[in-house]
Amino acid sequence: MSTSVHKPTQENAVLEVFELQKYFKSGGRLDRFLGEQEIVQAVENVSFHLRENETLALIGESGCGKSTVAKTLIGIHEPTDGTILFDGKELSPEAVRTSPIQMIFQDAGESLNPKKTVGRILATPLKFNGTANVDERIDELLSQVGLDPSVKNRYPSTFSGGQKQRIAIARALASDPEVLIADEPVSGLDVSVQAKIINLLDELTSKMGVSLLVISHNLGVVRTIADRVHIMYLGEIVEKGTTEDVFESPAHPYTRALLSSIHIPDPTMKLERVELPGELPDPSNPPEGCRFRTRCPQYIGDVCDRENPVLRSQSSNPEWPITGDEHSSACHKHDQ
Ligand SMILES: Nc1ncnc2c1ncn2[C@@H]1O[C@H](COP(=O)(O)OP(=O)(O)OP(=O)(O)O)[C@@H](O)[C@H]1O
Ligand SMILES: [Mg+2]
Repeated sequence: MSTSVHKPTQENAVLEVFELQKYFKSGGRLDRFLGEQEIVQAVENVSFHLRENETLALIGESGCGKSTVAKTLIGIHEPTDGTILFDGKELSPEAVRTSPIQMIFQDAGESLNPKKTVGRILATPLKFNGTANVDERIDELLSQVGLDPSVKNRYPSTFSGGQKQRIAIARALASDPEVLIADEPVSGLDVSVQAKIINLLDELTSKMGVSLLVISHNLGVVRTIADRVHIMYLGEIVEKGTTEDVFESPAHPYTRALLSSIHIPDPTMKLERVELPGELPDPSNPPEGCRFRTRCPQYIGDVCDRENPVLRSQSSNPEWPITGDEHSSACHKHDQ
């Protein structure tokens, strides 16, 4: 699957991702025949780690590659290049299928089989994992996600969006995962329900010692539950740091624009509104040099056209410990 070789570098990391790349071939057979097929560079050189019991958020506008990262981690996509280490070992395609990484999908309601009762939906992963007392465990899981165990006899179509999301969480937890990936876990739900689902995820993952990778457009959600945040733009990570670092001192011009576009009732955020011109460029033809340069309010010319900036620590203190968690961003303007 991958051509790169890496060893674990981070303490207590349950998941380590090195230089992950995922390209897709766009178009059908006719495009291929006409030589018009394009390569979509959905994820480029993405590295990160997730520690035990930690919540990491991946943020970025639609189409930047967040779900592709998630789907590659659980084996729906094969990486074009890069290494994924789970508990320090490379995940083979076979191991992925049984690996304790579970995902709650964007449209959880639709991912529940409409022909099976909730009880049968939950029984499948429990039996697969050889769980004893399946019936008891189903009741326990339903109670844990705030549903009455009697709902196990009902079909998915009889539940509200929020309840379906709770069932999807119960199904993911039934496999006793070490890592849970939640891709837009509350988009499409009523605002009043969103907070409840987020609190539930937060509570369950901390209580059960599960690490959480959360993908969300909702920056309020991210700020509430994430320990660290990574910002993606056009397939790449452009800024990373603790939630406090990124929200209180955003360094990359893209992060500043993203944060300035939302209303967070927090007096410590004194960002002026930054409007980005244009749209996310086509990932099958990304700009040369810095991928953000075509929309960047801090564009400084030649160097941005030529070189793609790398992530650099925001700290000028040479004594600063290199933990892999430090605040860093990829921008030529900062490098000057
Ligand atoms: N199976 C695929 N075949 C071809 N292109 C794909 C495929 N899956 C994703 N892409 C492309 O890869 C890019 C990243 O898509 P992805 O779904 O990862 O974005 P995202 O950040 O999750 O967006 P959103 O916030 O809208 O969910 C997009 O340009 C998308 O069209
Ligand atoms: Mg997505």
